[in-house]
Amino acid sequence: MEAKPDTAMSRSQDPEKKALLEVFELKTWFSSSSGMFARQKQHIRAVDGVSFRIRQNETLGLVGESGCGKTTLGRTLLGLETATSGHVIFKDRPLLSLSRKEMDQMRRHLQVVFQDPLSSLNPRMNVINIVTEGLVRFGMLKGSRQEHARRLLAEVGMDEAMIYRFPHEFSGGQRQRINIARAVSLRPDLIICDEAVSALDVSIQAQVINLLLTLQEQHFLSYLFISHDLSVVSNIADRVAVMYLGQIVETGSTAEVIREPLHPYTRMLIAALPVAGKKKVDSSGVKGETPLYTARPEGCRFNPRCRQAMDVCRRTAPDEIRQNSRSVRCHLYS
Ligand SMILES: Nc1ncnc2c1ncn2[C@@H]1O[C@H](COP(=O)(O)OP(=O)(O)OP(=O)(O)O)[C@@H](O)[C@H]1O
Ligand SMILES: [Mg+2]
Repeated sequence: MEAKPDTAMSRSQDPEKKALLEVFELKTWFSSSSGMFARQKQHIRAVDGVSFRIRQNETLGLVGESGCGKTTLGRTLLGLETATSGHVIFKDRPLLSLSRKEMDQMRRHLQVVFQDPLSSLNPRMNVINIVTEGLVRFGMLKGSRQEHARRLLAEVGMDEAMIYRFPHEFSGGQRQRINIARAVSLRPDLIICDEAVSALDVSIQAQVINLLLTLQEQHFLSYLFISHDLSVVSNIADRVAVMYLGQIVETGSTAEVIREPLHPYTRMLIAALPVAGKKKVDSSGVKGETPLYTARPEGCRFNPRCRQAMDVCRRTAPDEIRQNSRSVRCHLYS
């Protein structure tokens, strides 16, 4: 597997470059009632102390198995879930302390593309109205809606004549291009892409990723690119954050993480990737499935699945260890 070339990485790792988004110890917990007569309240710690930063013009890939908290993290940044604690600085503003009105204004700069392209589009609106809705809302329409819609469709590689059509008249890939056109229409700084290509065929996935890369260059965009699929993430991300049971267990440049994964969980994800022409071998010696949130293991959350687990791993949760541009949360390195 090849990661995004080093030129883009070194560009994004420029220490001079300002952080666009900084997340500190973010927690988003849900309460769930369980047990007999549902009297016992338990917390689902979907996001449980997550810190990371995204610089301008950089893509951070957020990867991890289903249910590890990726969507909840994205939704919390968008103000669609309420954070339990933590701080988020976006464009030098404290995102979690903004009023609803201020957050509405901020959404101009912070857009999202979700997994299911059809359900994200209003079936009763034609493309003109879909892609220019935000421009009207934010008073950014200069010229006619048709003109803007034509320009935006051209930007996402679609035929301008399609502006009068409705969502059901398009293929999945075209619908996702329309979602992307709507997201870039406001010239945002950051787009959260939550499994944005996961529902598409592999060849279409590659086309949409290339489109995202082109738009990033043109508009100096940053992406938080969320996916359960590390091979997809590696095609677009400058840096990767690996998430396990609500926490980030490893970060680093995409090339470094793939060349030399530190955390046993990251090694497991890489060992599970298909290798062209070779039979897949899981050499990392890890096994099993993600435990339930409500039955989180003592110590390191990954210890029941880790063959390298030591006594300390069953007793104490590891702290995050940082060195240069990398971090890992594992006792093997402490
Ligand atoms: N509104 C909610 N109320 C209660 N629990 C929730 C809620 N939303 C998510 N969860 C739980 O939080 C955990 C994390 O879910 P989340 O959807 O963030 O994971 P994910 O990493 O995006 O998974 P996937 O790869 O399947 O999309 C799961 O256990 C999920 O059931
Ligand atoms: Mg999700």
